[in-house]
Amino acid sequence: MFSSRTPSDLRPNRLALALERKRALGAPVIDLTESNPTRAAFDYPADAILGALAAPAGMRYEPDPRGMASARRAVSRYYAARGAWVDPEHVVLTASTSEAYALLFKLLMGPGDHVLIPEPSYPLFDHLARAESVVPSPYPLAYDGAWRVDMPALWDAAGDRARAIVVVSPNNPTGSCLTERELAGLVVLCAERGLGLICDEVFGDYVAAAVPSRVRTVAGTEGALTFALSGLSKVAALPQLKAGWIAVSGPAPLRDEALARLEFLADLFLSVSTPVQVALPRLLEFAPAVADQVRARISGNRAWLEARLGPDHPVRALPAEGGWYAVLRVPRVLPEEDLVLGLLEDADVLVHPGYFFDFEREGWLVVSLLPPDDAFAEGMARVLAYVDARLGAGG
Ligand SMILES: Cc1ncc(COP(=O)(O)O)c(C=O)c1O
Repeated sequence: MFSSRTPSDLRPNRLALALERKRALGAPVIDLTESNPTRAAFDYPADAILGALAAPAGMRYEPDPRGMASARRAVSRYYAARGAWVDPEHVVLTASTSEAYALLFKLLMGPGDHVLIPEPSYPLFDHLARAESVVPSPYPLAYDGAWRVDMPALWDAAGDRARAIVVVSPNNPTGSCLTERELAGLVVLCAERGLGLICDEVFGDYVAAAVPSRVRTVAGTEGALTFALSGLSKVAALPQLKAGWIAVSGPAPLRDEALARLEFLADLFLSVSTPVQVALPRLLEFAPAVADQVRARISGNRAWLEARLGPDHPVRALPAEGGWYAVLRVPRVLPEEDLVLGLLEDADVLVHPGYFFDFEREGWLVVSLLPPDDAFAEGMARVLAYVDARLGAGG
């Protein structure tokens, strides 16, 4: 009766069941997977945000499928502040980055076509692709002290049915940023094979200052049909407001055709609410007030990891250029799933197993850097003590 767009098995996995049991017992679990900023004790300018959302213009319904011109101009200013020129006419508003993917997969792919997605990366790609009857086709990021697009492997993966390449910069969870050299290679591949380049830049404002060769944004890239994705969920740490955008660039005829077709698709749903569109210019002005706190939290928690995990420590925190996560290399004291279950059952701390992000091999944990520093330090101390005890017990 049901289509293959939804998974055939929706039963919760072992970890979700264990967490449910723990919470039902009222156990005080430290959640090192928390990536919802509205639950991470940041100080939001709540009155100003709610005031912007209450503007009287929010009571009129005059939909533009691409989004209100004033909101698209605000997005253009967002890019200008980051050194890129984006014509507001080349911006399409969406309710979220996830919705942007859904629109772009509809735009570029028919049923059974392939989209190239990085591994390790954001776990939702698989489901987002299948929900559009599109086949997610993985390509590897290789680690050699930094995570880089394995270009020869990507050329090989781009078979006849691929229609687009997804890049995430900074990537979730590795924090790796796209370099100028990688972008040049991607543009050649996309132009030669007729592929769209989709770059998820939601973490673009959370980058360590000293990453000289990174691409700040792909917005404005001319050599191939390019879509830069971002939105309020990370830029302003306001995921609940449901507003994101796509900035389209590339050879003019292709870009204009893509925009016209995106407008057609967006018109079917008109999913971005008017109050949030009216508020968007002000919300983007308020964004740094919270983003600064997020950056301070991330760098504080990362500093804790660096101080605690010296070169001789069996657990290693991989260097990251940006993003909200830390990737930990752990000795293989247990299979990854057993380790994560053990941490939850015995130490009351929740972390992500690496397999959740499709790391090539076992032996990785991923933690969010958003939790308040005392909770982060206590949770991480439990993780390290648990791994230590298993090492002492011979695995
Ligand atoms: C790489 C990446 N893209 C997109 C999103 C979600 O963005 P949105 O809330 O705009 O759908 C996330 C959320 O964690 C993410 O990690």
